[in-house]
Amino acid sequence: APAAAVIPAAGRGLRLGPGAPKALRQLGGTPMLVHAVRAMARARAVALVVVVAPPGEAEAVRSLLDEHPPPPGVDQVVVPGGDTRQESVRLGLDALPDEIEIVLVHDAARPLVPVDTVDAVAAAVRAGAPAVVPALPVTDTVKQIAAPSEPPGGPEPVVATPDRALLRAVQTPQGFDRATLVAAHLKHAEGDATDDAGMVERMGVPVVLVPGHEEAFKVTRPLDLVLAEAVLARRRK
Ligand code: CTP
Ligand code: MG
Repeated sequence: APAAAVIPAAGRGLRLGPGAPKALRQLGGTPMLVHAVRAMARARAVALVVVVAPPGEAEAVRSLLDEHPPPPGVDQVVVPGGDTRQESVRLGLDALPDEIEIVLVHDAARPLVPVDTVDAVAAAVRAGAPAVVPALPVTDTVKQIAAPSEPPGGPEPVVATPDRALLRAVQTPQGFDRATLVAAHLKHAEGDATDDAGMVERMGVPVVLVPGHEEAFKVTRPLDLVLAEAVLARRRK
């Protein structure tokens, strides 16, 4: 079954602080997006990479990716994204050719995902799971509150402490049977979900977790960039 990677890369990266859109920020001298595209294009299953670019930057992203061609047998296309991650993913799905049966949705903000993790997700979908998510146990104890303090920074009363042993932190690429993911996006078209698997769950379709990888962490805040640079430097040794 032919598989495509959809890479939402249209976010601004507000939590990273001022600068270029996050996907275009450099990591080891190369834009984060290029790392993410490479990680997906190297996976055995992936025949097509669809990059969802910041609105207004599609042409610039196309030129950038032309400078970094994919391996033989892999195509790459660029489409402009939307105001929310969900909309960006939907625009990426709209660009898929008919023959694609498996879709891996991968955040550009997870540039260092190991290819083995990508292959494992794709293999589980290929083996028949409609939705597959890489995940890791959480290391911090997690508290639930009733509502965030307004304004932020004030005290927040705790309502519950879920058993940490039963919690997992999810990563990408999340792998799906294409028809299942498209149906979920149609059903929840008005939402702004940050997690594709969550939309699939709400349709009652089973979602399974497979082991994620520490290096698939999301670059969100400035400290994550420091970690990403260190991981890359260690790989290059
Ligand atoms: N994303 C997207 N379109 C949007 C918003 C986000 O394609 N309108 C993508 C981001 O580019 C990123 C992924 O979704 O690869 C995960 O989102 P996140 O880490 O939140 O990135 P940003 O939204 O860019 O960051 P922030 O929330 O700090 O602004
Ligand atoms: Mg965001």
